[in-house]
Amino acid sequence: MPLTPLTETQQSILDLARGFAADEITPHAAQWDRDAHFPREVAARMGELGFLGMLIPEEYDGLGLDTLSYLLALETIAAADASTAVLMSVHNSLPTQMLLHFGSDAQRERYLKPMARGEMIGAFALSEPEAGSDASSLRCQAVRSDDGASWLLSGTKSWVTSGTFADVIMVMARTDTPDARRGSKGISAFIVTPDLPGFHVGKKEDKMGLRASPTVQLNFDGLRVPAENLLGTEGQGFVYAMRSLDNGRLGIAAQALGIAQAALDHSLDYAGQRKQFKQPIRDFQAIQFKLADMAARIESARALLHATAAAKDRGETITQYGSMSKLLASETAMWVTTQAVQIFGGYGYVKEYPVEKLFRDAKITEIYEGTSEIQRIVIARELYATRGPA
Ligand code: CAA
Repeated sequence: MPLTPLTETQQSILDLARGFAADEITPHAAQWDRDAHFPREVAARMGELGFLGMLIPEEYDGLGLDTLSYLLALETIAAADASTAVLMSVHNSLPTQMLLHFGSDAQRERYLKPMARGEMIGAFALSEPEAGSDASSLRCQAVRSDDGASWLLSGTKSWVTSGTFADVIMVMARTDTPDARRGSKGISAFIVTPDLPGFHVGKKEDKMGLRASPTVQLNFDGLRVPAENLLGTEGQGFVYAMRSLDNGRLGIAAQALGIAQAALDHSLDYAGQRKQFKQPIRDFQAIQFKLADMAARIESARALLHATAAAKDRGETITQYGSMSKLLASETAMWVTTQAVQIFGGYGYVKEYPVEKLFRDAKITEIYEGTSEIQRIVIARELYATRGPA
């Protein structure tokens, strides 16, 4: 695994994640995928082990770990099952980080602490049916009630990970008015819980991969959100979401690396066992070149991700390197899993062997939390900003 030397704590977190993955995820992942069902009790178990509060300081009931520890655990869990990993990534990177950095003391007490303990699962609702890459064009509207005690939200959110069972959903909605639109400055963030009147879970997506992870639309029909559930400052919700996605993209990069590493490991095993023309196929140079390229691409993507994690922990802004990490890791995962299917040949194309699922799971990492095209736009913008005017 990583070239980076690990501290004792990082090694013990890695060992914990390996044991959990081997005992409690790997034996069941194919069945969860077939059933398109994620058992809620697995999330509770992740909470017990501390995997849902890894980046939250101890004063808020988290483990207060460094980013590399978190990414090592996430990669390991993703290698066992990418659906389990996306729950962990979204929860740790998006709603909990928004509460930690922009929430009030009361909000942290009420929501962040139970989320860090894994008793409440978090979700993130930014995208809408017609606002995907162009996130600031979202339309979900929040209107303050006449007495000022609440906000009434109307609209539809899409692609909400863990949306069937999430207990706390960070929802971005417009708080500007139709006659005075303010673009990204007209968006605010709200803490939404499913018990609020007007909350409806809508269509569950029937996906190519990550089938165990429930991805849903949420429909708000005059959803009544108490005024105290506005996060931070009105009009800052888009910036809060973007800042959190900087971190989220590191999680998706780790998830992609887990998928890629699993595909390489299965390919190494298979190429050693499978014989054609009277010899193991790993003795053919065509297969050696594939395995070598798979390993080299994984290690380079991992090195960039781990360097970015260290920069983040030094307090540096990681917008550009976060996007680079996600871009490189997700395109590596898609390329590596494609090679793995090729190495397995016909057996790579059937569900009886593991690389078929890895291939399907890899694709989404090039799409969600910002497509590869959006990552390239973010990187190019940062390059231009450094260079100054043309
Ligand atoms: N950190 C802090 N602030 C940021 C920022 C960042 N990374 N990115 C943008 N901002 C700020 C800008 O500085 C700007 O503020 P000012 O006006 O004060 O300068 C404001 O936000 C608007 O920024 P832009 O003008 O750059 O906004 P834009 O409309 O051009 O969009 C974008 C920029 C990068 C394309 C953005 O829309 C984007 O990232 N799109 C992809 C959205 C995405 O990743 N969606 C995934 C949703 S989650 C999901 O996939 C489901 C799940 O559950 C896993």
